[in-house]
Amino acid sequence: MTKPFEKIIIANWKMQLTIEESVAEAKEMKKLLSKSKLPNSTAVVVCPSFLAMSEVAKVFKGSDIILGAQDTYPGDVGSHTGEVSLRNLKTLGCEYVILGHSERRAMGETDESINLKVKATLEHDMLPIVCVGETYDERKEEKTNFVVIHQIYEALKDVNIREGQQIILAYEPVWIIGSGQVIDANEADRMSQIVRQSYVDAMNGEKLDALNIIYGGSVTAETVAQFTNLEKIKGVLVGGASLDGKTFIDIVNKA
Ligand code: 13P
Repeated sequence: MTKPFEKIIIANWKMQLTIEESVAEAKEMKKLLSKSKLPNSTAVVVCPSFLAMSEVAKVFKGSDIILGAQDTYPGDVGSHTGEVSLRNLKTLGCEYVILGHSERRAMGETDESINLKVKATLEHDMLPIVCVGETYDERKEEKTNFVVIHQIYEALKDVNIREGQQIILAYEPVWIIGSGQVIDANEADRMSQIVRQSYVDAMNGEKLDALNIIYGGSVTAETVAQFTNLEKIKGVLVGGASLDGKTFIDIVNKA
């Protein structure tokens, strides 16, 4: 069970840091965050690589930083070479799980598998961060709305969100990720309304209280507020600018 937050700032470290580097940045974040006067209605989440998670978990122990994972497998035990279970993630204190990131979709992750992972994550009382977004070609072909609506609908098929549980839908335009450019705030606002309406439709108008929408794609300390100031966007999912502890906490403070 996770309490609802007013702001959610998530670091996705992807495959960028060694274990040693992850521990060093985690320590820096913990130190800087303890000095910042952040309201406890802000969730600060860090998703290291699987390999670094247990060491980073030790650093975050006793701090306000929440541990997240970059993916999972929707089953507890079994012959699944290379996979990592929610059961094991939970023993580390991991609470949030990124699902359906475009970099995983590009490697063959299907809507069906994302849907199974969303259900399993909620069954373990952990919080799914479901990533959706269009590619450059899809946008050019005016399929943006269709793609995002479809991805949300498929991810949430037959999903049961229990009382007190939360879910995050992260709108990340694929063509913006890692580009150094952000989308126009008006467009992010328009997409947040599409995301919200898709959620309402997929959930038959129920569990609106459980929804949190965030934006991702080349967010920096300079640009974060233009998204978090939008009515329907609660936070950001940060890649490149989250790799340096000081830069990430700067984003957290400016959100
Ligand atoms: P960048 O912030 O590096 O564009 O990455 C965004 C992202 O993919 C977060 O999941």
